[in-house]
Amino acid sequence: MNFFSLFAPFYDCFMAALHKKQGKVLLARLAPLSGRKVLDVGGGTGKLAAQLEKVGADVWLLDSSAAMLKRARRVLPDNRAVLGDAASLPFAEDCFDVVMIVDALHHFRKQEIVLEEALRVLKPGGTLAILDFDRKSAAVKLLSILEQVVLEPALMLTAEQLEKLLTQKGFVNLETEIISAAQYLIMSSKP
Ligand SMILES: C[S@@+](CC[C@H](N)C(=O)[O-])C[C@H]1O[C@@H](n2cnc3c(N)ncnc32)[C@H](O)[C@@H]1O
Repeated sequence: MNFFSLFAPFYDCFMAALHKKQGKVLLARLAPLSGRKVLDVGGGTGKLAAQLEKVGADVWLLDSSAAMLKRARRVLPDNRAVLGDAASLPFAEDCFDVVMIVDALHHFRKQEIVLEEALRVLKPGGTLAILDFDRKSAAVKLLSILEQVVLEPALMLTAEQLEKLLTQKGFVNLETEIISAAQYLIMSSKP
């Protein structure tokens, strides 16, 4: 049993304010979403996926925690809430317009493989949106310690480190937006 299995019942309450802010940023940056196929990797309880569905996106959500997925299935059809590992996506290549990874990359032990998988499943010209915590921030350093206490990997990167990794993996047209002292959003494309 991992941390998210235990935390799932409280997750949405705890994250409500952050989800509202993150949703607003993502909707603005990913518009127009109507009719677009979106994959939310490490999508958790589906709170952000639901916001994208509301504006007409068709969202698939993948998560490794059955407890988090159980909640995602309240807002997405069962066949679009998928149990799995971000490092081995059970989807064909070139099939999504958008892949998003929100507050999740730092939880993935195999970050480089996850980025390769995101590139594989995106359509040419498709968008990868990664929103995560910047390890340069003092608050994030504290968060990292707390996450390690509950045995999460806490592999936060700086925006510069993630930009370098994305470029190495073949993503292009990088755009970085600083959301707050602790968070950034990096948008990039599959060539
Ligand atoms: C902090 S939550 C973020 C959930 C959602 N993206 C959000 O912003 O509310 C991180 C999620 O990543 C999932 N996760 C961790 N490792 C994973 C992996 N290897 N593959 C898929 N999901 C994973 C966890 O189960 C958890 O639901």
